[in-house]
Amino acid sequence: MSLVLLTALLQWRRRSQPARVRAVPINKEKVLILGCSSGIGKALALQYAQRGAHLILVARRRDLLQQLEQQCREAGSTMVLSHCANVTDLDQMDQLFAVVRDKFGQLDTMIYCAGAISVQPFMDLCGIHVHHQAGAVQVTVEDRRDQVDKAVQRILDINYRAAVHATRLGLPLLLPSVQPNLMVVSSMAGKVGAPTRSLYSGSKHAVHGFFDSVRVELANANVHVGLVCPGTVDTDLRQAAVDLPPSSVVAGSVQGKLSPASVAQRIMLASDRREREVYMPSFYYWALWLSRDWLDYFAKRKYQT
Ligand SMILES: *[C@@H]1O[C@H](CO)[C@@H](O)[C@H](O)[C@H]1NC(C)=O
Repeated sequence: MSLVLLTALLQWRRRSQPARVRAVPINKEKVLILGCSSGIGKALALQYAQRGAHLILVARRRDLLQQLEQQCREAGSTMVLSHCANVTDLDQMDQLFAVVRDKFGQLDTMIYCAGAISVQPFMDLCGIHVHHQAGAVQVTVEDRRDQVDKAVQRILDINYRAAVHATRLGLPLLLPSVQPNLMVVSSMAGKVGAPTRSLYSGSKHAVHGFFDSVRVELANANVHVGLVCPGTVDTDLRQAAVDLPPSSVVAGSVQGKLSPASVAQRIMLASDRREREVYMPSFYYWALWLSRDWLDYFAKRKYQT
């Protein structure tokens, strides 16, 4: 009986048109996407283009960005602006938001998709090795101080610090919208830890702390803050890890990867519905209720460590 009710409720939720779409018509929505040369950001740009949004596309790789701009025009966006910039460079961010202000005046939706990952177990990254010899434990340590420091700084720079600055610069343009949305692509690693992803998970936890706080602060200004947390997505993020070991196999889950298009679709829906936090796939909602020991066990299996 309760299952029937639950299903009916879900159906109703799916069918009912979100109020935001009435307040901000989809073919007038002004959307800024940060980090869209590939992966989730690119898929998002294309889907917003298909419903006629006005787009500002930001990425570092100029050739990919220009290709995407063209694709978005073909897909149906009547207004597409692409701007080549490095989100961790404050001067370039100042320039970007000045251009957005000049050309668009305001924003309805800002989506932060830029990100970097880490892929090494922490001991490997630090060069700490354990050998067992004749029943004794021997530990050797290589000096990896600078590599570790560089990796931590880079991952925090892209995943956290740049997102804070994008929020600082984006808010003045979002506030005049009737229903401003600030969406952030996070990860399940922003909610729980995951082996080989310690630096990444740490930076994404910081992202959650920051945006969960500003969400409450900004509620009176009607600014919605939404976080979307996918599991493993089929993108090239791993190839550009901050701690990529030279010529090695990168640990990662091999199966059950989400497609960038399906994640993009869910982000768009989460924005339309102004959902505060979304997990993908949805069975992670239940997983989060598991005990932490169970969760660690499954994470260990998933990453085969
Ligand atoms: C991006 O900007 C940061 C900060 O200015 C710089 O350290 C980094 O090298 C830049 N990255 C690229 C790929 O240009």
